[in-house]
Amino acid sequence: MTDNDLSMMPRPVSDSQSEMAQIVLPNDANPLQALLGGRLMHWIDMAGALAAHRHSRHYVVTASIDHLDFLFPVRVGDLVILRSSVNRVFRTSMEVGVKVWVENYLEDSSHHVSSAYLTFVAVDREGRRLPIPAVIPETDEQKRRYEDAGRRRENRRSEMDRRRRPRLH
Ligand SMILES: CC(C)(COP(=O)(O)OP(=O)(O)OC[C@H]1O[C@@H](n2cnc3c(N)ncnc32)[C@H](O)[C@@H]1OP(=O)(O)O)[C@@H](O)C(=O)NCCC(=O)NCCS
Repeated sequence: MTDNDLSMMPRPVSDSQSEMAQIVLPNDANPLQALLGGRLMHWIDMAGALAAHRHSRHYVVTASIDHLDFLFPVRVGDLVILRSSVNRVFRTSMEVGVKVWVENYLEDSSHHVSSAYLTFVAVDREGRRLPIPAVIPETDEQKRRYEDAGRRRENRRSEMDRRRRPRLH
């Protein structure tokens, strides 16, 4: 078996699932001490890239981030946990899901803050796109995400086609 065959062997979702933790510091917040949305978007991008890089074992670039809702306010001093996993691989791109939680150990509470789907593309040092090994969903939850990711890709593609179509004025 060649090195290329080995590097394209399918890998289970669990192999690249990642977790990132951030304490919210004053520099991450607005004057009301609430976490800046843009800072959270940056952390989501980084957490997503972690799983994408681990799965593909290549450099990755962010091609798109789907719609984002901020469901729960996060304050200075809070602990933010971001969990990411590869939902599905297409050819040179893959969808990664990131779920964000805020944990407060003093109050023993945890709240869902945000969820996002990102598409990463694997590239070499010159920016050329590279094929990515398939991902194997094992649990029922991973299988559901795999199926849903296929539907979301179709939606993204039709939306991209719509945007690219020339407009008649
Ligand atoms: C992402 C990028 C590599 C795609 O390049 P491209 O020339 O459009 O490539 P293609 O049309 O051949 O698409 C390559 C793959 O990316 C996917 N893709 C491209 N644009 C996409 C988008 N907006 N959303 C989701 N997937 C996208 C395609 O579906 C294809 O996937 P597949 O190989 O798994 O079927 C290119 O647009 C790029 O380099 N963008 C800048 C990335 C960057 O710098 N990100 C950081 C944020 S500034």
